[in-house]
Amino acid sequence: MPQITWTTTEPTPQAGQLLVVPLRDDHDAAALEARFGKSVPTAMQAANFRNKPGESFAFTRSLANDVLERVLVLGVGPLGDASVVRTLAHDAVRQAQGFGATRVVLDLRKSSAGTVPWSDDASAALRIGDLVAQGAELGVYAYERFVAEDKRSRRTVKDVVVWADTAAPDEGTRQGTVIAAAIAKARDLVNGPAGLVTPTHLATVAKEIVDGLAADHDVALTVLDREACAERKMGCFLGVAQGSDEPPRFIHLSYRPRQKSRGRACLIGKGVTFDSGGYSLKPTDGMLDMKMDMAGAAAVIAAFDAIVRLELPWEVHVIVAATENMVSGRAYRLGDILVASNGKTVEINNTDAEGRLTLADAMVYASQLEPDFMLDFATLTGACMVALGPKIAGVMAKDDALAEDWIAASNRSGESMWRLPLPDDLKEQLKSKFADMKNTGERWGGALTAGLFLSEFAEGHRWLHCDIAGPAMASKPYGVTTAGGTGFPVATIVEFLTGDVRPPAK
Ligand code: BES
Ligand code: MN
Ligand code: ZN
Repeated sequence: MPQITWTTTEPTPQAGQLLVVPLRDDHDAAALEARFGKSVPTAMQAANFRNKPGESFAFTRSLANDVLERVLVLGVGPLGDASVVRTLAHDAVRQAQGFGATRVVLDLRKSSAGTVPWSDDASAALRIGDLVAQGAELGVYAYERFVAEDKRSRRTVKDVVVWADTAAPDEGTRQGTVIAAAIAKARDLVNGPAGLVTPTHLATVAKEIVDGLAADHDVALTVLDREACAERKMGCFLGVAQGSDEPPRFIHLSYRPRQKSRGRACLIGKGVTFDSGGYSLKPTDGMLDMKMDMAGAAAVIAAFDAIVRLELPWEVHVIVAATENMVSGRAYRLGDILVASNGKTVEINNTDAEGRLTLADAMVYASQLEPDFMLDFATLTGACMVALGPKIAGVMAKDDALAEDWIAASNRSGESMWRLPLPDDLKEQLKSKFADMKNTGERWGGALTAGLFLSEFAEGHRWLHCDIAGPAMASKPYGVTTAGGTGFPVATIVEFLTGDVRPPAK
């Protein structure tokens, strides 16, 4: 990953350098001309450059001592919004890779980038440092494990120099670098094929993360196998897992901060490493991307690494019930009744609604840790994508303060989320003649009945459910996201646990 430094003086041009000049909407055309000469604005006009966000114009100029410098003019909108600053840094680095540049100078001085809301107060500077680092680091992201060496993208950019009016926000740069690394880790896990990223693999990655942190931090890992889960009577999780030859893994990572903890947080991720649908088998089109059904697990496991490295002030437990959902002579059937670890019985009317079953036992386990709140992240329903489209997550919670604080954190981190209701009257759809409930309701409101099902396992604890079926994966690049796994919502998890969380309303 590129090294990021900040400077207030003009970096000396050198071979392999790309100077990136963002142009705000109301930029000073005369200043641009004074800086680069009249030929540049003339050529930009001839090329029909309109300064739209993401639009670019490249040229080469010769400097003293026969040095040629490449310059890239990048259109940007207003720079106030978190995602815009991050996308700008991302685009600068990704374009530089295309040019084969080794060093990027990103000109963020007011005179070219415009007035940005970061200059004076220290927390704003930290934020900008964070976002620029996130964008710049993600600008080189690619999943190329299975791509032939000579076909891989050139990782040429070694240095990113931010040329600004303000002192280096070192803490922000470090924060952004750590968050970007976690996002990249989550993406790798989502992009990895299900034959590689098995429940065992997730447990191995969790072990590697803990091993990398244990020398300096109070962290621990517990992994339960099929037998240990049976001892804990995790009948719903094991019901899903019984059809797979891949051994299931129940993964529990924990971290206690050195400084005074603000409370205990449980982060639960859906970890279905492949979802065939089971006997309620998915058609090919629906199954095609189902290696991504562990994106919630990938996000919480990767976020754990960032949370600990940034020494966030919460005791954090990451919990993942990892399994495949397969078809076999041992797979769970329609009409089977599973018993969850809190004793609740569930009649299966659709084996493709497996995520909520794995989450049920994970939530009971989390409840037993007596957390101040638990958050679950799950690629849970296609219905949530129908409701909110492919880029926005659905947030459900009975607890208004928790939901509002979470959505506020997502606005700061630039990840899109929208709250959906948990209407109690829809619980009727989950009524079963033979058990406490069925695992699915009717078609309409499928995201909500999934949320209502989960609410039965929150057992008097503060809880929030985040359905990431849409934004966990991108069919084409947007913002700082490449096609494939996005690392959503690692940035919001870290942002949320950086601050305080209001107590529940009385
Ligand atoms: N993993 C899927 C949900 C999903 C679908 C995620 C598309 C990402 C993209 C989940 O296990 C599932 O199959 N849900 C069913 C629920 C239904 C049977 C009530 C669905 O959405 O069809
Ligand atoms: Mn499913
Ligand atoms: Zn699933």
